[in-house]
Amino acid sequence: MNKVFTSKNINNHEIKNRIILPPMVTFNFSENGYVNDRKIDHYKQIAENGIGMIIVEATAIHPNGRLSDDQLGIWDDKFIPGLKELVDVVHEADCKIVIQIHHAGSKTKVTGLNEIVSASDYKHARALKLDEIKEIINDFKSAGIRAEKAGFDGVEVHGAHGYLLTQFFSEKSNERTDEYGGSFENRIRIAKEIYSVINASTPDNFIIGMRMGCNENSLDESKKFAQTFENLGYDYLSVSTGLDATEIDKPEDFPYHWIVYGGTEIKKVVDIPVIGVYKIKEREQIEYLINNNLLDFVAVGRGQLADYNFTKHLKENGEILYCLECNPCQWRYDGSKCPRQIEVAKKKANR
Ligand SMILES: Cc1cc2nc3c(=O)[nH]c(=O)nc-3n(C[C@H](O)[C@H](O)[C@H](O)COP(=O)(O)O)c2cc1C
Ligand code: SF4
Repeated sequence: MNKVFTSKNINNHEIKNRIILPPMVTFNFSENGYVNDRKIDHYKQIAENGIGMIIVEATAIHPNGRLSDDQLGIWDDKFIPGLKELVDVVHEADCKIVIQIHHAGSKTKVTGLNEIVSASDYKHARALKLDEIKEIINDFKSAGIRAEKAGFDGVEVHGAHGYLLTQFFSEKSNERTDEYGGSFENRIRIAKEIYSVINASTPDNFIIGMRMGCNENSLDESKKFAQTFENLGYDYLSVSTGLDATEIDKPEDFPYHWIVYGGTEIKKVVDIPVIGVYKIKEREQIEYLINNNLLDFVAVGRGQLADYNFTKHLKENGEILYCLECNPCQWRYDGSKCPRQIEVAKKKANR
């Protein structure tokens, strides 16, 4: 049986199929952290093509934790009305919507006026003091409360891609000697506290997911992270890379990328839903991963930036406009320069 277009629950939300949009920043689509019409149109088009759930891009929980001035923000109530507008258009399209909440840590944009912080003195960042860690945990909590007020079905805590939480999780960047460093239990403590404050301040059915690495120190330790996240109460795991992109070994007969393999290995050790990602874009790949129960959901990222109608084309056996895997992806700067988007715009103009 082809299960790709069957539903599956996350917490008690029914996700109508197994295709998810992973968080992807669309920097120049916003102004000063606010949602604007361009951003709404972007997510609306993806929601209307029939996808199961959208995870909105990394959204800053504090102005001094941002990747850029135009990264979306959720550190103040002033952002709630715009976020609510975004949630409403996505819900109207019968699609679930979660928002990724984020602090960049040592990867925060240097403005010359801000102090860059991390778990320890790491690269150009200085170690957070204990009371500052508590403040950041509180910022995650406030972000969760605002997300719920805006109508989101949940939040995804960004614990991947070298940002602040991975700087705590990884032995390579965390040299603390207090309760936030050293042992596994101490390195994961920040994620435990973030979960418990958001959970205590939001309704039971509010999704709290975790984006994590499959290579955080090692695949074995990542499995331990995954099981601990599950025991804490996190509702799903979205598996990508951790502090860095150190590869994990994958068997020769696994046909796809090692990051996808990492997701399938994490799925074996937990019962909560697992989302896998990385260059998943072809029908055969998606069916293989879902129908063999290797993953619960697939996140198709650039595949959906290249073809806003990806899920519709997949479902209706239409022609998918495949992502060309440009390096770098133009969406990191300006989505309108994506060659596939240009192609579609030209076709529309010639109609
Ligand atoms: C333009 C762009 C922006 C991204 N922004 C984020 C982000 O905000 N948060 C995140 O966790 N990952 C981010 N990623 C990573 C994607 O979520 C995804 O893991 C990655 O693109 C691999 O999936 P794909 O091969 O399907 O594109 C971004 C990737 C791209 C290309
Ligand atoms: S810019 Fe290139 S890599 Fe990025 S989505 Fe478009 S086709 Fe894919």
